[in-house]
Parts: sequence; structure tokens; C-alpha cells
Amino acid sequence: QKPWEHAKSSGSEGDPLAARFVSSLDYDKRLYKHDIAGSIAHARMLLKVGLITDGDLAEIERGLSEIESEIDEQGDAWPGWKVELEDVHMCVEAALIEKTGDAGRKLHTGRSRNDQVATDLMLWLEYDGYVGIQSRWEPIMSAFVDLADKYGHIVMPSYTHLQRAQPIVVGGELMAWALMLQRAFNRISSPYQLRDFFPLGSGAIAGSSLPLDRRHSSQELGSPYWDQLTLNSESSIEGTANRDMALDFVWGLSMISTALSRWAEQWIIYATTEFGFITLDNLYTTGSSMMPQKQNPDMLELIRGKTGQVYGSLMALLTMCKGITIGYNRDLQEDKRHVFAAYDAVCDCLDMAAAIVRTTTFNEERIKAGLNRGYLDATSLAEYLVTKGVPFRTSHQHVGALVRLAGELDRHELKKLTLDEMKGVCDAIEEDVYDWLGPENVVKRYQSAGNAGVSGFEAQLASWKERLGNS
Ligand code: ARG
Repeated sequence: QKPWEHAKSSGSEGDPLAARFVSSLDYDKRLYKHDIAGSIAHARMLLKVGLITDGDLAEIERGLSEIESEIDEQGDAWPGWKVELEDVHMCVEAALIEKTGDAGRKLHTGRSRNDQVATDLMLWLEYDGYVGIQSRWEPIMSAFVDLADKYGHIVMPSYTHLQRAQPIVVGGELMAWALMLQRAFNRISSPYQLRDFFPLGSGAIAGSSLPLDRRHSSQELGSPYWDQLTLNSESSIEGTANRDMALDFVWGLSMISTALSRWAEQWIIYATTEFGFITLDNLYTTGSSMMPQKQNPDMLELIRGKTGQVYGSLMALLTMCKGITIGYNRDLQEDKRHVFAAYDAVCDCLDMAAAIVRTTTFNEERIKAGLNRGYLDATSLAEYLVTKGVPFRTSHQHVGALVRLAGELDRHELKKLTLDEMKGVCDAIEEDVYDWLGPENVVKRYQSAGNAGVSGFEAQLASWKERLGNS
């Protein structure tokens, strides 16, 4: 009998289909470093409470660190990956037993794969997942800020219902994307908000009759919370049976995807011949196999498209959790598949988005050419009348009449009406009205906090720069 035979699950022994079906090795290999870190913390705790000897611990640490270097070097080719052992936990433990004999056989004292996998996943989220997302914050945010620095003062239309609304500056819109992304990133800013304690030492469900010191293993893993915690409300059942950290993480990823997808959609529209507001770098467009002239925004489309996959992961996790009884159920094994898939997709999308933002140009002439269409300054004119004492509802009606008049006279711009023509509709209008008309004038007049004109954009840009400078 091979030393790891004890580890084989009974159900998978005979039928290779069952062995493959029950195995999570394909995707949970990725946890090996955290599995090893958790095992070392657990072993140190076992020594502290007298369940293993100094010699055992030395052997366990030696064996685990050898295994870690072997996997570092050999990756998927590491001979210890054996599908019939089901998962990363069993593969690492079997290899340890092969290397260290009885010392290795003591490692699983007071432990179950149920608390082990919950711990591993927390460690992965904290040291890989959160860190990986946070490391992508600076590149994407500074890409938007740099682009705004370059093109931010160009006057452009804004859109509600994708119909022309009020004039803004390009930077006003770019800062809106930055804020939307920031809020999404905030949901993934600190795993400490989500984690009270490591489940390590909870065992399979009920805890252990051995004198485990869970505070000690948790401190070994760097949990900052144990000192503040009273352990009284902690539950070994709940600790092994919830996946809230995974759900919170993938929810945050979904919100990043939502932001990126909306932005991608907007820029796909801006890159059309009809709009022509932006030009995407050739690096991030593709041609057509049939139509020689094409420059398709495939990267943006894929950013939008991959959002479905990320939402799918969130739905899969939620659905996985909703039907299980309170205690570990094997359904939970699927959690990692969805966490990793969503994480990989969002990392790719953030990297791609940053590259696109860094290389896109805004076409000032083209934007300017269409700026006088659509009565972008109508709201400004209504506000002008308010400054002349006209109640807003009344001024709104007057401006509506002026827009109709400009159309009837075939002028199509408010500033092309003469003062007399305007006075004919509302005699509160004076010569200074022309300072309130035309998109270039309007964007300078906004003064409310957060406005998308010149003053609001400049304030937002300064605050993002400061924030990035401090990061
Ligand atoms: N591979 C399993 C998972 O990811 C480990 C826990 C297995 N526990 C069990 N009682 N079968 O969830």
C-alpha cells in the first residue's frame, strides 16, 4: 500500500469516471502556496499545544518547503498531482507523507479538508485576489487621468437617452468613468472588512476534542483581528459552511465589469464613423476577413462581452450557496472555479482597458464640427432667464418656443436668433444673452460642485491627481 492510499476517497476508488467527476485538482492546484502556508500554521499550533514534537514540526516544514519549491519549478508537471487524490490538499499531504512518514501523518490532527479549504480560499483572496485587483487600480486610473490631461478641455456634447443633452468637456466624462471605477474598486479594497477569523481549526463541522489553539494558528497566518475578537460568537459550523468572502469578492468584480462594460459600449459608439469622436489605436482594433476597410473595436466588444461571464460566476456562486444545509457540502468545491474564472476575466479586462485608454485619441475637429446641432445650450438659456427673474417653469416654456422658432426660421441654433426675435418670445432677454449661448460659453458657466464643464472637470482632475500621487 502506498503511503497516501489512506487519503483516497472511497467513492472514487473503483470508477475512473467518479474519480474525475469528484476531482477539483484542475483548478484548485492554484491554491498550493496557501495550502502549504495553512499547513505550516496548523503544524506550529500543534507543536504549541503539545500534539506534535519539535522534530515532527521540523520534518513537516522541511517537507512542505521542498514540495513548494518542486511545484514552483515544475508547475502542472509536478508528479505529485494525482487526479485520484481529488484535490490540492490531498496531493500535498500525500507527497508530504511520502517524504516524512509519521511526521507527515500527524499534520491532519484536528483538521478537516473543510476548514482547510475555507482557509486556503481566504488566503488566496487576501494575498492573490485582492492584491491582483488592487495592483490594477493605478494603471487604469492614471490612464484615464492622463487622457483627461491631454484632451480634457475639448468641448463635447453630453447625452441622456443617447440624445444630445448639454455641452460638457471631454474631461468631465472621463472623470465620470474614473469615479464609477473607483466605487467598484472600493468594493474590493480591503479583505479585512470581510474576514473576522480564519476557519482553520474548526475541523469538519463540530470542532475538535483536542486542545487546539485557534488563536495561535490564526496569528501565524497574520490575521489582525484575533486580539479584538471574543471567540464566543464564533461557530465552527458556520465557519466551514459559508463562502461569503468569495461572494463579496465576485460581487465587487461584477461591479468592475459593469463599469468597464458601460465604458466600452460608449466608446464603441464614439468610434463609429457616425460619431467619430475617438480613434482607437490600430493595436486594439481588428480587421475583417472579407471587408478590407474594416477597423473593428473587438477589444472593447470583448470587454463588454466578458461581463456576462463574470455575472455568470456571481450567479453560479449565489445559486450554489442557496440550497445547501448548514455544514460543508461538496457543492462548495465549485466555488473556486467561479472565483478564479471571474478574477482572470476581470484582470484581463482591466489590463486591456488601461492599454486602450492610454492609446486612444479624441478628434477635436470632428467633435467641434457637430457641436452646434441639437440645441445643447437650451438649458443654459433657461438658466439665464432665471437670473433675470423669470420662474424656471416659465423660462423652460420660453426656451421651448425659441427652439421651435429657430427651427421654423431654418437657423437651428439659438445664437442665430436676433435679440428682437428673442424679445418677441420673452422680453426679459437682453444683449448679454449671447454670453450664455454656444457650447463654448456654456461649459465655462457651470459652477455647481461636480459639474462636467471646465470648473468641475478641473477640480476633479486635481483631486484624482492628488490621489494618484499619494498612492
Ligand atoms: N476539494 C474540496 C473542496 O474544494 C475539499 C473539501 C472536501 N471535503 C470533503 N468533506 N469532501 O471543497
